[in-house]
This record gives sequence, structure tokens and C-alpha cells, in this order.
Amino acid sequence: EQNFADDIRAILRLKRERNAVILAHNYQTPEIFHCISDIRGDSLALAREAQNTQEQVIVMAGVHFMAETAKLMNPEKTVLIPDSMAGCSLAESITAENVRALKATYPGVPVVTYVNSSVAVKAETDICCTSGNAKKVVESLGVPRVIMIPDEFLAKNIQNETGIEMLTWPGHCEVHERFTPLEIRQYRRMHPGVVVLAHPECPPEVVAEADYAGSTAGMMEFVAVRQPAKVLLVTECSMSDNLAALNPAVEFVRPCNLCPHMKRITLPAIRRALETMEEEVTIPDALFPQARRAVERMLAV
Ligand code: 13P
Ligand code: SF4
Repeated sequence: EQNFADDIRAILRLKRERNAVILAHNYQTPEIFHCISDIRGDSLALAREAQNTQEQVIVMAGVHFMAETAKLMNPEKTVLIPDSMAGCSLAESITAENVRALKATYPGVPVVTYVNSSVAVKAETDICCTSGNAKKVVESLGVPRVIMIPDEFLAKNIQNETGIEMLTWPGHCEVHERFTPLEIRQYRRMHPGVVVLAHPECPPEVVAEADYAGSTAGMMEFVAVRQPAKVLLVTECSMSDNLAALNPAVEFVRPCNLCPHMKRITLPAIRRALETMEEEVTIPDALFPQARRAVERMLAV
């Protein structure tokens, strides 16, 4: 606790000195989410809001692809990631070469890429999406079939919702792929009446057991508006911690899986980033225009 206070004071001071803003994903731990961040949200909100900040420095309290997206939308600013090893199993599941091969196999089929991907993969892409806008993005294309990469489960969940055929890729989120339908049924037996909210990175059989599926922001809004007596969030652990502080009347059943990448971002790591101005995120010039275009197209939908 003492360390938290020291780090929090130092970070708040450094933010002013460096003219920095801290963006925090909903999976960040409560002391980061509630005490030092300026903008909080799901990956879509962070991509959007990064553009509206006045500060010269953006610190991404989130994983690497989120920092890359912030840099794509703000090339003139310094974007820092407190731990450059904060990756993502989805981003690591596919290469640009893999995407070129898919395009050669299915010529003319548009490629929708989840933002949980590298800049090189985004650059091969027609349009990006997040879990918060995937349905809207896919429907905006007006075609019966799309290539949706790299999250197989998100693609299948969106196919179930829209009826649009998804050609996909066997990438999975290492956090959400571990939930099972049996587990959800057991929690329902132990907690009669519990409302179950699942992230669409979960397998379709798990989403089928839920009362609602949506992005981290969607789940937050559901809890804030509906105020269920008891809720189970089928997602990363910090979501329940962060929401519990905002919704004291709601009881949270807490099965969760930790994202080891998100958890690399800590108060000391953020403090160090602001002290040393490292590690700075850069985008290769050759990839920049195409990758940015895919994100811009998404934000315009
Ligand atoms: P959101 O798009 O709901 O923020 O979730 C993406 C995710 O899993 C971030 O790691
Ligand atoms: Fe990637 Fe899953 Fe971690 Fe999100 S929770 S950063 S999708 S591994």
C-alpha cells in the first residue's frame, strides 16, 4: 500500500512534468485503472480517445498492439509502452505472410482484422474491427462472406449473430479460450439467478451459455445500467475488480482468468516509463499508410 502511494504520487507528478496522458484498458489492475489513468476503456474507446488528447506523450497502460494503434493515429506524438513484452496471443498467432496466403486463396474476399494484431498484419487488411464494433464493421461491407482474422471464436460468434460467412484463422485469446460451458453451468447451479456476461473472444459454446456477449465496455455498460443483483463476468480478472468499485450494489461472482500480458503493466513500470521515456513505440514507414488506413476505415464506420 505504501509503495502504491509513493508510485501514484510520483506518476501524477511525472505526468505533469512530461505533459503525458495515461490511457488504461479495462483489464488493468484497480490501482492503475482508478488512481492514475486519464482515459479508461475498451480497445475501441482507447483507439478513438487517443486522437482527442492534447498532451505530447501518450502512455499506454495496456498491451503492445494498443500502443501501436495509438501511435498509428498519433504519429507526431511520443507513445510509450511501460513493458514492451506485454504482447497478446492473438496478435502473435498470425503473420503478414499468412494473410497474403489467405488473400491468394480467396481473391476478392474482404479482410477484416481484429485490432489484436501486429501493424504488419493490419497493413495487409481492408478494415480493422474490435470486439465492440465487429458486427457493425462486418455488416458495413455488404458482402455474404469475409475473411475475419485472427480470432476464430470472435469470427464464429459474429457469424452466428449476422449470418455472414466467416473464413477465419485458428488464433485464440489465451484468457478466454479456457472458459468452458460446463464451468458456466456449474456457476449457475451454485448462484441461482446470476446474470452471465461473456466476452466474444470466448468459444461459441460458452457464449451460448451467457445472457449477454459484448466487449469489455459493453459488459461495463450492462452492469451500470441494469444493476443485476449478482453477475458473473466471463473474462479477465481485473474487470470484476474495477466494476465492483463502480457498482457497490452489485455482487460479483469471480471466476476469471488472468492475462499475463496485461499484468506486465504495473505502477513501477509506468513510473519507470515516465522517468526514462522508454519504451517508445515506432511504426516502420513502409507499413504505416496501409495499417493506418485500416484503422481509420474502422473508426469511420
Ligand atoms: P475489448 O475490445 O473488449 O477491450 O477486449 C479486447 C481484449 O481482450 C483486450 O485484450
Ligand atoms: Fe490478448 Fe487475450 Fe490478453 Fe486481451 S486478454 S491482451 S486478447 S491475450
